[in-house]
Amino acid sequence: MVIRGFGPTGRAGGLPPVIGTGSPTPADPPVKAILCTRPGSPDDLVLADIPDPVAGAGEIVVRVAAVGLNFFDTLIIAGKYQRKPPFPFSPCGEFTGVVESLGPGVTGFAPGDRVLGYITYGAARERAAVAAENLVKLTADLDLERAAALAITYGTGLHALRDRAQLEHGETLAVLGAAGGVGIAAVELGKLLGARVIACASTDAKLAFTRAHGADELVNYATEDLRDALKRLGGEHGIDVIFDPVGGRYSEAALRAIAWEGRHLVVGFAAGEIPKLPLNLTLLKGCAVLGVYFGDWVRLRPDASRASLAELAQWAAAGKLSCHIDRVYSLAEMPQALKSLTERRAMGKVIVRPDL
Ligand SMILES: NC(=O)c1ccc[n+]([C@@H]2O[C@H](COP(=O)([O-])OP(=O)(O)OC[C@H]3O[C@@H](n4cnc5c(N)ncnc54)[C@H](OP(=O)(O)O)[C@@H]3O)[C@@H](O)[C@H]2O)c1
Repeated sequence: MVIRGFGPTGRAGGLPPVIGTGSPTPADPPVKAILCTRPGSPDDLVLADIPDPVAGAGEIVVRVAAVGLNFFDTLIIAGKYQRKPPFPFSPCGEFTGVVESLGPGVTGFAPGDRVLGYITYGAARERAAVAAENLVKLTADLDLERAAALAITYGTGLHALRDRAQLEHGETLAVLGAAGGVGIAAVELGKLLGARVIACASTDAKLAFTRAHGADELVNYATEDLRDALKRLGGEHGIDVIFDPVGGRYSEAALRAIAWEGRHLVVGFAAGEIPKLPLNLTLLKGCAVLGVYFGDWVRLRPDASRASLAELAQWAAAGKLSCHIDRVYSLAEMPQALKSLTERRAMGKVIVRPDL
């Protein structure tokens, strides 16, 4: 990765609002940030000095303690995500940290508060100025690394299983990509909501990991046909809910094992291919294919999503959710950290800490 200076001209060059809308003074020291300057791979990212952010009206400057990585970070830097920020921008959409200063008009926060932020992109830096509405306060009983693993993965999992699928106690839930970030969250949340959970993944080591996190049944879809395995485990009734962040050839295989009135949750396409499903299957099964879009749910239903996040934080603090961290990387190691996702190696959540 190239390490190079990034002078004040960066602001005019399109840095996102997380640089802050207040005015930096010449005495402000620069902060280290990961910047994406053009569409590309993790190796094309640069570690740069940018001006210290200053909180504008309604903003809060946060010292970033831990950044949670997600698969979509690899898409947004490649220009393949539904949101396409102007260049240069910092990737990474969720973080935890400590409030340093408040802009005009901000109430309800104070310097020293521990917070969690969800901003879609802009978190990969030492300090960020963030709209207060994108932050929630954290209680002292949840450490900042684990909390950085909470918002998007568990938020998506709970929104999908409870709001979209209305998963019921005693139903059977199959989770594809079950050892990944949203996958392991869905396994744990499925158990908490009272489901029988079938974890599906590509290696036995990943499946052992899901078993340790509560999965009842395991399917290795690299060595066993997914449809046959789910038909066997679903029995005559079939699989009530399919949580599908993988896509590709796995989606149709799973749908073929769904129950009457089952719900297939379309969460993502980590396999790289957006599948086409034969609609006759939905007719024959009387089932529903349900889209899940956490980002828009947060934007369109702010009160519901904040309540959900508060509930998740309580569960995590009480030890009901693991927020398992695969590995912690430094800011300079961002390319390796992102490649652990694209190379299908990570189990649970990958974290970057700017202070390392
Ligand atoms: N809809 C939403 O609101 C929402 C929210 C969050 C995430 N997502 C989406 O959900 C998906 C997973 O996100 P994540 O952050 O949990 O990712 P992750 O931690 O990298 O997990 C993805 C999993 O997908 C499986 N996979 C299959 N083929 C793959 C491939 N070619 N490359 C990488 N992984 C592959 C892997 O499991 P195996 O090796 O076991 O197959 C891996 O564990 C992404 O598509 C993401 O965009 C959607």
